[in-house]
Amino acid sequence: MVETELKPSLASFNLKTYLSTKKDIVEKALDESLPLGNPPKIYEAMRYSLLAGGKRLRPILCLATAELLGESETTAMPTACALEMIHTMSLIHDDLPAMDNDDYRRGRLTNHKVYGEDIAILAGDGLLAYAFEYVAENTQNIPAERVVKVLGILGKAVGADGLVGGQVMDLDCEGKCDVTAETLTSIHRRKTGALLEACVSCGAVLAGADVNDLSRLSIYAQNIGLAFQIIDDILDVTATTEELGKTAGKDISAQKATYPKLWGIEVSQTKAEELVNDAIAQLDVYGEKALPLQAIAQYIVQRKN
Ligand code: FPP
Ligand code: MG
Repeated sequence: MVETELKPSLASFNLKTYLSTKKDIVEKALDESLPLGNPPKIYEAMRYSLLAGGKRLRPILCLATAELLGESETTAMPTACALEMIHTMSLIHDDLPAMDNDDYRRGRLTNHKVYGEDIAILAGDGLLAYAFEYVAENTQNIPAERVVKVLGILGKAVGADGLVGGQVMDLDCEGKCDVTAETLTSIHRRKTGALLEACVSCGAVLAGADVNDLSRLSIYAQNIGLAFQIIDDILDVTATTEELGKTAGKDISAQKATYPKLWGIEVSQTKAEELVNDAIAQLDVYGEKALPLQAIAQYIVQRKN
């Protein structure tokens, strides 16, 4: 990777410990966020996917951003959990036979393989609705306007301008050979980027960020969002199903447009590194406090699953 000014302190930041500590806290909060209820079947299906592990990068990004700007973990936690609920529901629906028809996710059978298609659709719907309820009901100690703003950001990230629109464009492009880099980037900005940006923006809004903070953090998030997807495409070709916890080589078999297909693996890797270096530079102004977010950016291009 190209040298950045913060490299020495960044290199000595212990991201592994940071991520595993935060992940444990998030796991506990997620478990408590959704107790079993009636009818048990739907709660079990929702919990099956919500508590299936994973890197928990989205909630961690939200917490790290709120903390960078001086807000507490406790205040940001309901939103952090909601972001994971939304991410989980999008994966349950993405794996359905009508979408990507996948059998494995996070190393386990997909939701519809265990509970059937009908319940999997409803488990996704239940998680989506609950995400908004959970933020509205549980966010404490900050002005209500900030909570309303967060709800708006979440809605935009999910809708036709975000996840839903990105998925539609993605499905439209399947099997087409003439997908340009611009179209592919536009798909991913919505399908993956919108929610990752929402994680950072929500954390910032909860902490009362000003316009300058919001602008820097948005650029950071957009860059890591795109880099994340480029690396996802590379891993689909280079990693094994065991390493990924989901079916490897799926993009080729489903004839998906990907960055390695357009640019080759090496150029794709370089582009991801450039995006991450720009993201890191955006946050230099915050000094040492930005190390967690900067280290997460770096991890995105170095990850193996
Ligand atoms: C995984 O992509 C899927 C997503 C990032 C989101 C898909 C979005 C939807 C299904 C829309 C959900 C509906 C609402 C209401 C939010 P991938 O298939 O490229 O990656 P994978 O290999 O992990 O499956
Ligand atoms: Mg998929």
